[in-house]
Amino acid sequence: MSRIAIVSAMAQELHGLQHGLSGARCVQRAGREFWTGRLGAHDAVLVLSRIGKVAAATTVTLLLAEFGVERVLFTGVAGGLGPARVGDIVVADALLQHDMDASPLFPRHEVPLYGLSHFEADAALSAEVRAAATSVLAHLQRAHLDDFGVRDPQLRRGLILSGDRFVSSAGESRRLQAYFPDALAVEMEGAAVAQVCHDFGVPFAVLRTVSDRADDAAHVDFKRFIAEVASGYTRAIVTALLAQPRRA
Ligand code: ADE
Repeated sequence: MSRIAIVSAMAQELHGLQHGLSGARCVQRAGREFWTGRLGAHDAVLVLSRIGKVAAATTVTLLLAEFGVERVLFTGVAGGLGPARVGDIVVADALLQHDMDASPLFPRHEVPLYGLSHFEADAALSAEVRAAATSVLAHLQRAHLDDFGVRDPQLRRGLILSGDRFVSSAGESRRLQAYFPDALAVEMEGAAVAQVCHDFGVPFAVLRTVSDRADDAAHVDFKRFIAEVASGYTRAIVTALLAQPRRA
């Protein structure tokens, strides 16, 4: 039975998922709590990634080295870039570290010795996540979204940027968009997860709810949005994803 890890960036999201975990057991490693059990029809491990690339890389390395995880889904919120509005869901096709710069030794944004700047998410797992997100968006209770100005949330797929910085100025957001015109979102962990999964040859997907526009108002309502909107999205999408056993 293959085991999937759900790695959440925010505690509220993890707590939402923990309610559905049966036979839950907690194992502590490196100051983290790894929750094993059954989620839907699957053997699962739930864990908080903590924030930033190093914390996420440590968490995912432990999952892959010590918990026999064969697939990884990262969930969290992100700042929207380009067309991505607050309330949209973005599933990564590829991830890139926007703060990686070992130039002139290596091209800017290339991860040294990998010859890569873009790390591709697993196509099959990402397609499953998009299908689950599509069904959740189709049945969404929209009333409480009005508070956040969310009208018609969209599912998007494409490039997600990661860096050890909360992007909260229109100037920085514009600079990122000028450099990466096709990027849809910016966050702080996904590309690190991608690099670790690449090292271990383990399939992964990254699912983000857009919580802000990565501009001067990015921090406003951030915590309330996670509690009232993003955690609900994540729980519903993960539940839909894991409802059926995996086809061989
Ligand atoms: N996560 C959610 N919003 C973000 C932002 N604006 N910058 C970086 N990470 C984020």
